[in-house]
Amino acid sequence: MTRRMNLDSRIVSGLAGAFVVLDGPEGCGKTTQARRLAERLASAGVACALVRDPGSTRIGEQIRRILLEPEHREMAMRCEMLLYMAARAQMTSELIRPALQAGKLVICDRFISSTLAYQLGGEGLTAAEIRAVGDVATGGRWPDLTIILDMPVEASLARLQRSRDRIEQRGDEYHRRVRQNYLDQAAADPAGYRVIAADRTVDDVHASIWAEVMALGARRS
Ligand code: TMP
Repeated sequence: MTRRMNLDSRIVSGLAGAFVVLDGPEGCGKTTQARRLAERLASAGVACALVRDPGSTRIGEQIRRILLEPEHREMAMRCEMLLYMAARAQMTSELIRPALQAGKLVICDRFISSTLAYQLGGEGLTAAEIRAVGDVATGGRWPDLTIILDMPVEASLARLQRSRDRIEQRGDEYHRRVRQNYLDQAAADPAGYRVIAADRTVDDVHASIWAEVMALGARRS
């Protein structure tokens, strides 16, 4: 028998057409958590779409390969930022908007919050510039909730087991700045962001994420 936990119908209707992002530094566990959240919501009767940024579309996955290829050392930061945005534009048009319009809850593994953490300050890129391009890429559909899974950089980098991609290869100092950029975004927008400690068990982190998503459903109902 499949485990089915009935949610309050107001929460289910509040979550219809909502857009939730899980984000955070390398190795924070967001991909595992995104999958777990989607599975639990689906078994509770909430229709979901799970996507990853960059990727999830044929074009986006090709852009992802260009972005993460370690040989592309010469890539300029503004090119890097625009390629992330191009992949996002395709995913928004092809997957996110249709899913939201169909009343699904969209769970996105990374989004513009990643660009505001990883590309901010590179070649002088400002948050205002990144947001302006983000508006173009998404047509202005920003997430309803961005959950940042936060943990110390030493611990998160130690979790990476396979060989590192082009971005992961950047030094510890870069990754410390990335973490700080996430925390700064969250501090500047307490209504749109939540920070959850990720250096805990998968079950505990999941429970915190679940509580935030239920609260979002209640707020939107
Ligand atoms: P992932 O391995 O978590 O899917 O992310 C791919 C890499 O791309 C990861 O190192 C973070 C990086 N990234 C950026 O630098 N900027 C972005 O906007 C996004 C979405 C990811």
